[in-house]
Amino acid sequence: MSATIIDGKAFAAKVREQVAGHVQRLKDENGLTPGLAVVLVGEDPASQVYVKSKGKQTTEVGMNSFEHKLPADTSEADLLALIDQLNKDASVHGILVQLPLPGHLNSDLVINSIDPAKDVDGFHISNVGLLGTGQKSMVPCTPLGCLMMLRDHLGSLSGLNAVVVGRSNIVGKPMAQLLLGDSCTVTIAHSRTKDLGAVCRQADILVAAVGRPEMIPGDWVKPGATVIDVGINRIDAPEKGEGKTRLVGDVHFDSAAAVAGAITPVPGGVGPMTIACLLANTLTAACRANG
Ligand code: GUN
Repeated sequence: MSATIIDGKAFAAKVREQVAGHVQRLKDENGLTPGLAVVLVGEDPASQVYVKSKGKQTTEVGMNSFEHKLPADTSEADLLALIDQLNKDASVHGILVQLPLPGHLNSDLVINSIDPAKDVDGFHISNVGLLGTGQKSMVPCTPLGCLMMLRDHLGSLSGLNAVVVGRSNIVGKPMAQLLLGDSCTVTIAHSRTKDLGAVCRQADILVAAVGRPEMIPGDWVKPGATVIDVGINRIDAPEKGEGKTRLVGDVHFDSAAAVAGAITPVPGGVGPMTIACLLANTLTAACRANG
């Protein structure tokens, strides 16, 4: 293996430490404690794990955490009423509705009912538009975390060829906007892209966000490229024993690490940065609300 491993876990710990310092100053100087409300509808096990982790890390940096757990059959009207109440609550600076929502709820309608100033996910249509036009906005946490790691590792990104594999609203599209904002030449590739391997091999920066385990092999990676693996996929691991599983990314780590200049591991890469950026966004929202 020749690649430098980009340690997202250590980077996220530094970001949380900085956030905690700012939170303490806000308390001391302004008597203000930032608050994050997380809304979870239903019992999806992965979502429950994320929400628990978000709540724990929120209180660890000194912020207030408000958790709202609603049954899977919650009506749209009841969910919208809760969001309206959180929008009006001055102790709540950030609101996050955990996705995916149960099928009977219209995610776009729900997300767009959040006050854009409290939309710490950056998913509200106004924040999407602000980001797309290069204006001050709430930036989605996962792409923001990726950008921070890229800047930290590479310095200036100007003029680099960036390929984003995946076109989701949560990661692929905002990631492409952020890279464009840093003057990369950006390609968004996806499952229908012709000769995806040849497209990936052009990338100085390769961001994989497709949600398919180990789909990107090392021979799709340009020698020396920086590889950011957003995927978190659980696969069977019979080598660890019967019924055991392990987490892998969208990139085949061992073969890619032999070629890349730098790569994020899974776990311990992008994942920890996402929650750290959520806390940073909540702090930003609280500061803006405070003038
Ligand atoms: N589900 C998976 N990732 C995310 C995220 O970043 N925000 C929300 N709200 N839900 C998610």
